Amino acid sequence: MIRLGVNIDHVATLRNARGGIHPDPVDAARLAIDAGADGITAHLREDRRHINDDDMARLQALCLEQGKPLNFEMAAVDDMAEIAIKTKPHAVCLVPEKREERTTEGGLDAAGLHNQITPIVRALADNGSRVSLFIEAVPHQITASKACGAQVVEFHTGAYAHTLDAGDTGKAEALLEAMRTGAKQADALGMEVHFGHGLTFDNVTAIAAIPEVKELNIGHFIIGEAITMGLKPAIQEMRRLIDAARHSSPILGERI
Ligand code: PXP
Repeated sequence: MIRLGVNIDHVATLRNARGGIHPDPVDAARLAIDAGADGITAHLREDRRHINDDDMARLQALCLEQGKPLNFEMAAVDDMAEIAIKTKPHAVCLVPEKREERTTEGGLDAAGLHNQITPIVRALADNGSRVSLFIEAVPHQITASKACGAQVVEFHTGAYAHTLDAGDTGKAEALLEAMRTGAKQADALGMEVHFGHGLTFDNVTAIAAIPEVKELNIGHFIIGEAITMGLKPAIQEMRRLIDAARHSSPILGERI
């Protein structure tokens, strides 16, 4: 069964819009776990635009209490590594980060940043966290991730999601094929394969049907749907679609 990690960053985005304490991402994480999330994902950005240090500490306490993994997303920089080492989450995902971006726009350059990333991967892994690199599914970045010591690669599905939204099914199919090939390559190198970014009810099934996928991390769409259908039903529907994709041949862009 594919694990579903629910990213609760945007509960904090909503809270921070008013600068108060409500809604609390930790309450949302508890509800997500009750609804069937296999883990909680949160990104501590350098500018603290959504999740803050206290949220991350409380999320780790909740995950320990509930026996669920916390996936701590962060930039590959020393200050953040220090916080992750203190937090001791089950997993850390290293992502590229730019202050001016609206969201994580592309994959990490594991090849170009080998010397920066490798000691951070080692320190986090020695501290007991499973480390993944958030990359594009291109062969040299997959090989480079292995060389950096990553146990996991998470493929950035943003371009695939946007292309499908724009109605370019041919390009989306090509991107999907590259991710299928990348998943095989990473698996053959002994790394676990995850996917995330921009996944929705309409585009998740083709990704969930990739045989090597072990985990999907989904945030913005689920939190958005929580406003209309509710957080629990949104997670349950995502879970249903992911499971259904394993037993059928999903058509690109179609909900099962
Ligand atoms: N995986 C990683 C590594 C991310 O950084 C994010 C958030 O940008 C996600 C998954 C979730 O993406 P989304 O919020 O678009 O579902």
